[in-house]
Amino acid sequence: MGSSTRGSTFLFEIDGFLYKSPINYFVQKKGWDMSPEYHSPREMELKPAPPACLFCHASRIQPPAPGASNRYGSAPFLQDGVGCERCHGPGREHIQGRGVPVNPARLTGERRDSVCIQCHLPGEASVSRPGKTLEMYRPGDLLSDYALTFVYDDAGHGGLGAISQVEALALSQCLRRSQGRMACITCHDPHTFVPAAQRVAYYRDKCLSCHTRSFADRHQQGSPDCIGCHMPRGESVEGTHVEVTDHRIRRRASKPVPGPVASPPRSLVPFGTAQAEPRDLGLAYAQVALRGDVRASQEALRLLAEALPRFPTDAEVLIRLGFLYQQLGRNGPAAELYERALRAGSEAPEATTNLGVIYASKGDLRKALALWQGVFERNPGLSEAGVNLAAGLCQAGETARARRTLIEALKYQADFGRARAMLRELESRPERCPAPTPARDR
Ligand code: HEC
Ligand code: HEC
Ligand code: HEC
Ligand code: HEC
Ligand code: HEC
Ligand code: HEC
Repeated sequence: MGSSTRGSTFLFEIDGFLYKSPINYFVQKKGWDMSPEYHSPREMELKPAPPACLFCHASRIQPPAPGASNRYGSAPFLQDGVGCERCHGPGREHIQGRGVPVNPARLTGERRDSVCIQCHLPGEASVSRPGKTLEMYRPGDLLSDYALTFVYDDAGHGGLGAISQVEALALSQCLRRSQGRMACITCHDPHTFVPAAQRVAYYRDKCLSCHTRSFADRHQQGSPDCIGCHMPRGESVEGTHVEVTDHRIRRRASKPVPGPVASPPRSLVPFGTAQAEPRDLGLAYAQVALRGDVRASQEALRLLAEALPRFPTDAEVLIRLGFLYQQLGRNGPAAELYERALRAGSEAPEATTNLGVIYASKGDLRKALALWQGVFERNPGLSEAGVNLAAGLCQAGETARARRTLIEALKYQADFGRARAMLRELESRPERCPAPTPARDR
């Protein structure tokens, strides 16, 4: 994945399970190194390649198998990279001589912007609308009918590199004061590669489609490089998913922007003009809460509890709210919500695993084992589930099966520390069983 402008990473497959390589190529360093996810690598725990990565980096993506997070049928995707149909819509009818593909340049407003935003705005959280998924979006549609991307209300004040080009451009006076005329495709034509030698002239030309030539003739004579002064490049921007070039197009780009003095609590807002229901906002906070943000988890709890009566069978709402309760030690309501999610047809591995943890803590090992067994069968690459299952089997006196389960889990994550430690323990002192791990979420 990646055209190696900044770097590239690789995916690999074991028995249909797709993983990200822990080692990436970094162009700036001109060499190979650990992927940023392995900040202080002590174990080579494998990271599954979630459908989200594929959505932006590949085309004609196939859904993962039911109840599995990263196991795909025959092939995870049928086309490499960003295919024509991602911006032009399905071509079938056109090939059959009926209809013309969508031309993004003839769309206006948010329908036009949606085409690029589907991949260029990672945001803080992305929430699918009830019953919808991002994969259902087609060029010409409004992306916000399928999913909302949430950003912080003060995004962009932190400086270059903290945000995506989409958020940055939205802050520019050029966009805000050109009555909807400015879009990504004002300056970028996805069909054109701009060689380094032409970039100054190429982008100057784009500026002058709005700022008049007579202005340019008077302004900064002898310095034709508009973007050099107004859209400078950051020297060392960390990460692959943030802008390198300052798309805020500021008057004095070099002047550092003062950050908020006493930073008030930041709020999440949906990008664009779409409104977020308490359900959507609650799910967005719940995603942010997974990164350890306490206030976000309080907000999520409040909003999702408010949304629940209107969405009594919405698996996403039930599972996230269940997890928030479980973290607070409120196992009763948590178990009830997980059970409702499973009854509603959800096969989410985290709901099943976490419900098992609650059953086990109540002493109902048999029910816990049945759940973990199911999860681990569908996701043998999910070591967490394997460790829980092994701990449960051991407690039930089935040490031989516990050992086999750990060996199976280690097949996918040979260096998974907890599984290895448990296996050593089982082999030396089979009478002492470790406890299952506390609740974890994706
Ligand atoms: C299906 C996802 C997808 C869509 C839709 C998409 N992009 Fe991209 N775009 C990417 C990815 C992924 C990259 C990074 C490519 C790489 O370096 O591997 C990229 C890179 C770029 C770059 C940087 C190219 C470079 O040479 O560094 C520009 C500019 C860009 N896209 C503009 C656009 C515009 C404008 C649109 C809307 C018309 C758009 N993209 C739609 C996924 C997408
Ligand atoms: C929301 C869409 C989106 C998602 C999700 C996403 N990417 Fe990207 N990725 C992009 C875009 C767009 C770029 C180009 C960014 C730029 O140049 O500013 C990019 C750049 C990259 C690059 C650098 C490519 C280069 O040309 O140097 C790598 C590597 C990468 N992504 C890997 C991943 C992995 C691994 C995942 C899953 C964890 C992932 N991406 C998820 C959109 C996405
Ligand atoms: C990242 C988005 C993107 C991808 C991928 C993409 N295009 Fe385009 N395409 C555009 C945009 C935007 C325009 C309008 C350019 C303009 O007029 O400024 C366009 C214009 C066109 C046009 C001219 C349409 C007209 O009515 O004049 C054709 C033909 C075309 N694209 C074909 C393709 C084909 C074939 C592929 C795949 C090989 C492809 N495009 C991939 C974004 C994309
Ligand atoms: C779609 C039209 C459009 C394009 C393209 C455009 N601008 Fe602008 N820009 C505007 C408008 C409208 C304003 C508001 C002030 C004005 O009318 O001059 C503005 C304002 C500015 C400002 C003043 C910002 C401020 O904070 O006061 C700068 C600097 C600027 N543009 C630079 C550029 C550069 C450099 C480019 C090319 C990379 C560019 N613009 C491309 C429409 C555009
Ligand atoms: C006013 C012109 C302008 C507009 C509008 C614009 N860009 Fe850019 N973009 C640039 C310039 C200039 C560069 C740097 C190109 C270079 O250095 O070769 C760039 C670079 C990029 C890159 C490469 C990574 C980086 O940050 O340097 C991506 C990705 C990108 N733009 C995406 C977008 C997206 C998405 C939009 C719409 C939200 C957009 N751009 C709108 C001018 C623009
Ligand atoms: C050498 C750096 C430099 C270059 C090159 C440059 N600008 Fe500027 N530009 C500035 C500075 C500095 C200001 C702020 C002037 C001020 O605040 O009094 C500015 C102000 C502006 C403004 C605000 C309008 C105004 O006069 O208040 C616009 C619009 C603008 N530039 C567009 C452009 C465009 C378009 C180009 C390319 C044709 C360009 N600039 C090239 C440095 C530059």
